[in-house]
Amino acid sequence: MRTALCNAIGIDLPIIQAPIGSACSPSLIAGVADAGALGMLAASWLAPAELRSTIRAIQSLSSRAFGVNLVLNRPQHHRLEVALEEGVQVFSFAWGDLRGDAKRVHSAGGFVFGSAGSVEQARRAVEAGADAVVAQGWEAGGHVLGDVALSVLLPAVCDAVGPVPVVAAGGIADGRGLVAALALGGQAIWMGTRFLAATEAQVDPLYQDRIIAASDTGTAHATIFDGGWPDAPHRVLRTPVVQAWDTMGRPARPDRPREGEIIALAPDGQPVRIYDDTIPVAGTTGDLGALAMYAGQSSALVHGVAPASALVAKIMREAEDTMARLRADWGSGGAREIGQGPSRLP
Ligand SMILES: Cc1cc2nc3c(=O)[nH]c(=O)nc-3n(C[C@H](O)[C@H](O)[C@H](O)COP(=O)(O)O)c2cc1C
Repeated sequence: MRTALCNAIGIDLPIIQAPIGSACSPSLIAGVADAGALGMLAASWLAPAELRSTIRAIQSLSSRAFGVNLVLNRPQHHRLEVALEEGVQVFSFAWGDLRGDAKRVHSAGGFVFGSAGSVEQARRAVEAGADAVVAQGWEAGGHVLGDVALSVLLPAVCDAVGPVPVVAAGGIADGRGLVAALALGGQAIWMGTRFLAATEAQVDPLYQDRIIAASDTGTAHATIFDGGWPDAPHRVLRTPVVQAWDTMGRPARPDRPREGEIIALAPDGQPVRIYDDTIPVAGTTGDLGALAMYAGQSSALVHGVAPASALVAKIMREAEDTMARLRADWGSGGAREIGQGPSRLP
């Protein structure tokens, strides 16, 4: 199941670990890379020196390719230069005009992913120089670029920007989702929530437990966690804080309950306020259950924590099983009933 995109970026399997903010650890990215998929470091908030040492840490763990993601709601030239100096060749940009950064990456011989939540955003990303588009459906966890479901967005973006490769993001957590994404024209899947529940993800176990416990209606598309990143809709777990805000009719700042309250301390001792865009990373102390827990609707498909390499292998096995089932059903010429469960025919 190697696609043209896999060949373009030097990976064996059409699976990409989405950038998941400060949950990305060197061992997560290296584990994904060694399994033949692409790991992606979310670097938007790392100090340049920390970014350099993190890239070196990944390189010391794996010799495979990996990518760096930068959110363009702030200037990122410094971080981009550090990553290029350290030999990174694959970049992903989201939330802004990627024209200048794409040009710089191309001048160094690199590859650019541009994220989009609509056909219009996808067209703009390609015009600005993206070599591939990440079509992010609104099922996605974290900050959400649009409000179109992936089942419509993905084929529509493929139609609009083809032959530029398109990657499917949002709502995918297993091999069935991979096959569906390929069927809709995608060339890889981009999974965030699934990898948040990897053993190597740098998060408190409570966060992973809450993802595993979440049902299909367990997340909300919201604007509540605006501290540090205003005006950016996001999808989060329906924690008691989110539920209370929702029940009150989603009031804006400063009319929300407990506005401004410090509820936790980050690992570096920095105070975290109730509506900050800060997830419970490993080492956070305080009321962790009240913090932002970005997660997608795909939480409903996540049933346990496992090492990243095992997740990649499991998804490929499931995809192969799904393909075998489809081939058998399809090839039976109608003699076999497609699907499981009792027949509804008389
Ligand atoms: C905790 C978390 C942090 C995220 N951080 C980033 C980020 O730094 N940059 C980015 O472009 N996308 C970020 N995203 C969005 C993901 O890259 C991706 O689009 C999304 O997770 C896909 O949906 P899924 O969660 O259903 O797999 C984040 C998502 C989550 C859940």
